[in-house]
Amino acid sequence: MKVAVIGGGPGGLYLAILLRQADATTQVTVWERNRIEDTFGFGVVLSDATEGILAEADWPTHQRMAEAMHRWGDIDVHIGGEVITSGGHGFCGISRKRLLEILRDRAKELGTDLRELTEAPPVDELLKTHDLVVAADGVNSAIREARAKQFGATVDLRPNRFVWLGTSRPFPSFFFSFQQNAHGLWRAHAYQYAEGQSTFIVETTDAAWRAAGLEGQDEAATIRYCEVLFKEELEGHRLVANRSIWRQFPTIRCSRWHDGRLVLLGDAAHTAHFSVGSGTKLAMEDAIALAKVLQGATDVETALATYETERRPGVESVQRAAQASLEWFEATERYDDLEPLQFAYSLLTRSLRITHENLRTRDPAFVERVERWFADHAGARVAPGKRCPPPFLTPFRLRDLTLTNRIVVSPMCQYSAVDGVPNDWHLQHLGSRAIGGAGLVMTEMTDVSPDGRISPGCTGIYSDAQVAGWQRIVRFVREHAPDTRIGMQLGHAGRKGATRLLWEGDNRPLEQGAWPIMSASAIAWKAENQVPREMTRADMDLVREEFVRATERALESGFDLLEVHLAHGYLLASFISPLTNRRTDEYGGALKNRMRFPLEVLGAVRAAWPAERPLTARVSATDWHPDGLSGQESVEVARLIGQAGVDAVDVSAGQTIPDQRPIYGRAFQTPFADRIRHEAGMATLAVGNIQSHEDVNAILAAGRADLVLMARAHLWDPYWTRHAAYALGHALAWPNQYESLNNYNSRI
Ligand SMILES: Cc1cc2nc3c(=O)[nH]c(=O)nc-3n(C[C@H](O)[C@H](O)[C@H](O)COP(=O)(O)OP(=O)(O)OC[C@H]3O[C@@H](n4cnc5c(N)ncnc54)[C@H](O)[C@@H]3O)c2cc1C
Ligand SMILES: Cc1cc2nc3c(=O)[nH]c(=O)nc-3n(C[C@H](O)[C@H](O)[C@H](O)COP(=O)(O)O)c2cc1C
Repeated sequence: MKVAVIGGGPGGLYLAILLRQADATTQVTVWERNRIEDTFGFGVVLSDATEGILAEADWPTHQRMAEAMHRWGDIDVHIGGEVITSGGHGFCGISRKRLLEILRDRAKELGTDLRELTEAPPVDELLKTHDLVVAADGVNSAIREARAKQFGATVDLRPNRFVWLGTSRPFPSFFFSFQQNAHGLWRAHAYQYAEGQSTFIVETTDAAWRAAGLEGQDEAATIRYCEVLFKEELEGHRLVANRSIWRQFPTIRCSRWHDGRLVLLGDAAHTAHFSVGSGTKLAMEDAIALAKVLQGATDVETALATYETERRPGVESVQRAAQASLEWFEATERYDDLEPLQFAYSLLTRSLRITHENLRTRDPAFVERVERWFADHAGARVAPGKRCPPPFLTPFRLRDLTLTNRIVVSPMCQYSAVDGVPNDWHLQHLGSRAIGGAGLVMTEMTDVSPDGRISPGCTGIYSDAQVAGWQRIVRFVREHAPDTRIGMQLGHAGRKGATRLLWEGDNRPLEQGAWPIMSASAIAWKAENQVPREMTRADMDLVREEFVRATERALESGFDLLEVHLAHGYLLASFISPLTNRRTDEYGGALKNRMRFPLEVLGAVRAAWPAERPLTARVSATDWHPDGLSGQESVEVARLIGQAGVDAVDVSAGQTIPDQRPIYGRAFQTPFADRIRHEAGMATLAVGNIQSHEDVNAILAAGRADLVLMARAHLWDPYWTRHAAYALGHALAWPNQYESLNNYNSRI
């Protein structure tokens, strides 16, 4: 096989090594327009885990790299005059120049035809003479740009400014520092990669960079500015430049990585922000995956398709982590209310991949310190020497309601009611989850009127029979799960009403027995759905009064907490989103107008609900659509509902329109809860693909939310909270009936 590789960076060179090492008959030519060692930047950082992967792929390369590496385990966070240290992380750094020299020498040793200082011939020519052409031509890949459509390439240029510098200060750890001056907040990311040689990246907002007058300045001006700013941290060492221009990070994504026999590799195909230190790792792992599929391949195009299928999930997962991490650094100003310890914890867990238990394994003393701090702040001080509860097992207070722990069973429609009356199914659904240990269980969206139902199976709270049904459930929880509280979610389906039971077709219209529906504007969910009528002022008065009456009935039923559903495209949500509210009166247009009716309802509900009991509201923090509600606007939504008397925001996302484009992933909605908590200063509940106590504790300890909602995880395991508490050595007390089973063995 004849392979042409365009670009002699880590990706291209490592591929050449692996191909030649696997099969000496494979002819590999690498074109590199510069000298290999004429590189930009200073060092790169890899993790212990990446080293293991490289060791398996080519031992000699690994050995040479290992000899040139500097290793460390601590992360130091300098913030507000304090240094917070967390250990046990396992990093290694290597000079980029040294890495490239090692790769070059090994590639040549294995017989690669390496053409330095040579521009690669055009791709079309190479395709005539080679079986495979690999574009490993870096972040600015001209090959990707020329075929941007075929590759579905997008470049997301991030707003922050950064510059890659070096210094002789031998940092003993991974070093993060945050310095505030008159121009703004400056972040430094630094680590030592060789004896007395460290990378020092400075990052700040565009506004701070402009205010500092660095636009259009040369390297000397950058160095002068940063040396003054980080004088203390540099401890008398100088900063040095190497093509150190201020840049904005481009996140590159391609929906296809190959086109015929041409394939993109490394930065050319995808980038991951430097704060997760994964660009070099990704490029080298691409090479490993590509070399593997090419081994013995008879058809290059099939091999490339396999390569992409196998490699894409891993790359996209790193890109999601990198996105969360870069957003954390773009918004660091938001966390100025955090104490240094919590700030450092938030930084360490920013990618939502490092969990509480990961940190405990690495540095148990650090996690113990965080848990003690958290318990103290939650009013659950533990005597020195005694074990602290994990964050999710600390109490949380809203008005006069104190929850014994921070797990909430999320509202989940059961589509099992007749005439809106909750029955045995609802009793076992909510009852078993209350016995399962959650601090709070929420009813499904319970509708304020028959016409406000999603489906004929939805529960309601507009009749005496319904109140009696709810009273039975509340009584069960009170009697049998005294540590659990129960809340009701109130809603009106709006344009998503008069549809079938979920398992008979999600959002599919009823074939028979449909009722008239209404919404902010007369826009049907989908063409097959009923067109709702645009609400008149009289409709608004009626709906507001239905919410008030439902609030009174919720009180009569005995609920501890009330939540108003402002999310997922239902009636009140339809006013908030610009995609579903096209009104031209005072209830449409600017956000202030779109919030007018939802705020009116919230105000009326708050007035009818006792002052000592909390009120929450669920919002969709984004519509997952470029023309819809943004994360930024949802901060304003949270502020406004807070002013209307809402005590905490239940932060969900999307489901406003059928063609939303969500970015799913682990804890994918949590960044919105984090943002609202810090920017609107509201307590938040996080929800969405949160499944493990590791993630729950990390979310709480980092201050991303005050409570965590579990829907499907607590559905699959009604005793989820008990199991999590038990796993962490803090078993919850059993009800008497089950306590006797615990003692069974000792009795007989
Ligand atoms: C500030 C910063 C810090 C970083 N820190 C880290 C880190 O700590 N850890 C980490 O793993 N990664 C880090 N990275 C990312 C890392 O540098 C890249 O992800 C990595 O170099 C990608 O390797 P590559 O082989 O895909 O591309 P590159 O290393 O960019 O190599 C591409 C090569 O192709 C050559 N080329 C392009 N076009 C042609 C042509 N037509 N003919 C001939 N030659 C051509 C270029 O000259 C270049 O040498 C960082 C990046 C930045 C910007
Ligand atoms: C069966 C089911 C029914 C749901 N019903 C409701 C509901 O009534 N009200 C609501 O706000 N969200 C509802 N949701 C959304 C969940 O509350 C939650 O936001 C979502 O499932 C994401 O959380 P998870 O990843 O923990 O499942 C429902 C989800 C499921 C799985």
